[in-house]
Amino acid sequence: MNDGTTFWLVPIDGEAKHLIKEGFNKLSQASRYLRFGHPVNELTEKELQYLTNVDQQYHIAWGAIVEVEGTEIGVGVGRYIHTVEKQGNAEFALTIIDEYQNKGIGRYLLALLYVLAIRQGLKTLSGSILPTNSYAATLMTALGAQIEVENGLYYARLPILADWAHLDSSYGRKFAETLSIVDSNLR
Ligand SMILES: CC(C)(COP(=O)(O)OP(=O)(O)OC[C@H]1O[C@@H](n2cnc3c(N)ncnc32)[C@H](O)[C@@H]1OP(=O)(O)O)[C@@H](O)C(=O)NCCC(=O)NCCS
Repeated sequence: MNDGTTFWLVPIDGEAKHLIKEGFNKLSQASRYLRFGHPVNELTEKELQYLTNVDQQYHIAWGAIVEVEGTEIGVGVGRYIHTVEKQGNAEFALTIIDEYQNKGIGRYLLALLYVLAIRQGLKTLSGSILPTNSYAATLMTALGAQIEVENGLYYARLPILADWAHLDSSYGRKFAETLSIVDSNLR
């Protein structure tokens, strides 16, 4: 993290259900609203199944884990989903629990999704952002995303380019450094 604390990025599988459930319970109403676009009080068993039953090919999902007093805690999730029909584009979502926001974990998870998207030959990662989520929109813009307004929501389309020299804003350069780190560590 920005403060030097270690976290791990791990692919999600069915065994992560309890981590996702606990993480969701720690998420504030405001963050839940920003993530899902509507109020969500709890995740049903069916939703948990959907969020963890991933094939890591068309539905990619990774979690961020920290260890606190010998116990693993799930602090964030990044995922994208694409289909054969919508070739080249995947819909992504990112969530970090409130206590761990603004520590750099979101940047690493997004960089991981970006590197995986390059390796899968995707052209764009897109996602809906509530207009009140101004800093998510600002981050996307700094990474070269085009933002359209659709049904009162922002729809960000982030171009995926294998050469990231175009990331030349101040946040873009920081993100490019993170991409290099993730790319060289991801086997
Ligand atoms: C949006 C979100 C995923 C970002 O993850 P994060 O781990 O907090 O982000 P990072 O720590 O990597 O920060 C990235 C940048 O965002 C900015 N930022 C992060 N949290 C911020 C906050 N609370 N206020 C203002 N700026 C903030 C910082 O400028 C940071 O840039 P820096 O590294 O140059 O300082 C996370 O805040 C979140 O889960 N929010 C709720 C759900 C959501 O909005 N999801 C996105 C829509 S799917």
